[in-house]
Amino acid sequence: MGLTAEQVAAFERDGFLVVPDAVDPAACDELIARATEIVDEFDPATVSVFSTQEQTRTSDEYFLASGDRISCFFEAEAFDQDGALRRDKAVSINKIGHALHDLDPTFDRFSRQPAIADAARSIGFEDPKLLQSMYIFKPPHIGGEVTCHQDSTFLYTDPMTVVGFWVALQDATVDNGCLWAQPGGHRGPLRKRFVLDPAGGTRFEDLDPTPFPEPGGTELVPLEATKGTLVLLHGLLPHWSDVNRSATSRHAYTVHVIDGAAEYPPENWLCRGSHLPLRGFADTLRP
Ligand code: FE2
Repeated sequence: MGLTAEQVAAFERDGFLVVPDAVDPAACDELIARATEIVDEFDPATVSVFSTQEQTRTSDEYFLASGDRISCFFEAEAFDQDGALRRDKAVSINKIGHALHDLDPTFDRFSRQPAIADAARSIGFEDPKLLQSMYIFKPPHIGGEVTCHQDSTFLYTDPMTVVGFWVALQDATVDNGCLWAQPGGHRGPLRKRFVLDPAGGTRFEDLDPTPFPEPGGTELVPLEATKGTLVLLHGLLPHWSDVNRSATSRHAYTVHVIDGAAEYPPENWLCRGSHLPLRGFADTLRP
């Protein structure tokens, strides 16, 4: 089990790896159904709009408190000028985050399935810890752009160890806002860190002025993925996804893994209470 030597070499060369048919489509359907239930139960009165372009989120307490919770975030375009939802709640959500993998049995099982655990071991994790999870909706017509970034900006460790394990729960295409990545871009520097501001809220700390590749240019390649495809993303890899203006949703689930031996700085935005210590792949929540 696990990745082949060729797949590991491709990941080390490109900073990403696309593994089609890694996850059972029935497991994808089960996750979609569970996410639907969570959104059904979600009270929109506790609103948070999520957008990497929206700087106000940096002071959003709801966002900062979500590191060890299951919280729903709306799309930036979900509301009209009067603040009312333009359409049904179910197609207005940007994502659910950020501790699904530790708090919900369905997400716990999905996150610790052999396909993901074995891939993590294959690329060299010795003490993998599941840090963060996100269910991403990319709803039809209003699914927001995720501007070009590196995951180590948001999930920094010393040394840098974060890897994203991204699963297409539905087909992801250029039309509905698939991932784009810069092959080999993980050999570039970390541009910035997203940290807690001692004055309150959060801020970006600039580290290196190297520009990101331009969306629409030739440096970024689309990572189209059929349902059940697993995509590994190195923490330093620049990646981007476009708005979804199509009539099809593009649901995906991602879990970010760090090495337990690396230092996790206290200024990272994502804080977890001591009641919820990080767990590995083998520590299942419930039998
Ligand atoms: Fe990312």
